Amino acid sequence: MSLILGIESSCDETAAALVTSDREILAHQLAGQEDEHAPYGGVVPEIAARAHAEILTPLIAAAPDEAGKCLDDVDAVAATAGPGLIGGVMVGLVTGKALAMAADKPLIAVNHLEGHALSPRLVNPDLAFPYLLLLVSGGHCQILRVEGPGQYRRLATTIDDAAGEAFDKTAKILGLGYPGGPKVEAMAQDGDPKAVPLPRPLIRSKEPHFSFAGLKSAVVRAHHSGDHQSADIAASFQQAVVDCLRDRLEKAIRDHGSCASLVVAGGVAANTPIRAMLEQVADAHEMAFTAPPHWLCTDNAAMIAWAGAERFAAGLTDPLDFVARPRWPLDPNAEKARGAGVKA
Ligand code: KG4
Ligand code: ZN
Repeated sequence: MSLILGIESSCDETAAALVTSDREILAHQLAGQEDEHAPYGGVVPEIAARAHAEILTPLIAAAPDEAGKCLDDVDAVAATAGPGLIGGVMVGLVTGKALAMAADKPLIAVNHLEGHALSPRLVNPDLAFPYLLLLVSGGHCQILRVEGPGQYRRLATTIDDAAGEAFDKTAKILGLGYPGGPKVEAMAQDGDPKAVPLPRPLIRSKEPHFSFAGLKSAVVRAHHSGDHQSADIAASFQQAVVDCLRDRLEKAIRDHGSCASLVVAGGVAANTPIRAMLEQVADAHEMAFTAPPHWLCTDNAAMIAWAGAERFAAGLTDPLDFVARPRWPLDPNAEKARGAGVKA
């Protein structure tokens, strides 16, 4: 059994965790920065980096205390090395390197997306490779075939905004504040999902990809028209996202075949109607469905420690001069999506 220290600082959550290769989470320390970013309606990179630098050291120090362990008991230090807001990523990675060097432990530079992608295996020991993954977060919206640590085939990606970004922007337009996803979901409960006619970009398209920019613009127009209640806009928007995700997933399964399991990960996976739709798709294709618990869907360090444990078991460690990466695709061989911006 190995014990991994995980560090996460790629966006607006600072976190440290101690996780064993036996799937035991011995410690999890997490500090959000919502109050610092709320006045700006989104994450301000410079504020995030400074906040990580202030909070990370005491958070890491608290983890071994919580677990009744010391740094010497740790087998490897896993830190998010990208993709993300580069200032924050550097804070976490440099701290991880310093600890690894001081304690003479191996460093594992974790791709944040791999943290999300492997997180369902932390809670579900029966989830075997390969599985079909819908990765939906604030920065990414992808369908991937997960074949093992470091082995991904990207089947679809967004050509513009990510699904979580669309939720956050809709929340901003409706004046719900930040972070938007949970607020839009809560407001949608009081609305009619059929009340506002909104587009479903790229639905039934021959291209496999996602697009949410046009949906966002339609939400702006619906709001400015003054013809609709905010709750109806929220519900109709959420339904449009559900429909787009379902259509693209069905296409991926048609084009590439199914797997034994359908898995969802990333912050948007916390959304209940999206989970319900995914369960239906899995049922229809006789796939098992795995969704991590809500706390494991949004950014955290347990998933980074777990990805570290999986990589460590596969003999994958990294040199101390590993460079932080603002962009870092899980499948470097994936073709660039037609019409896509740099994010894809
Ligand atoms: O994975 P995550 O914590 O950070 C990134 O790596 O992006 O995902 C955050 C995203 C945000 O866009 C947030 O609005 C969205 O996940 N989100 C949700 C919900 N909870 C979080 N979106 C829809 N419904 C939710 N309940
Ligand atoms: Zn994330």
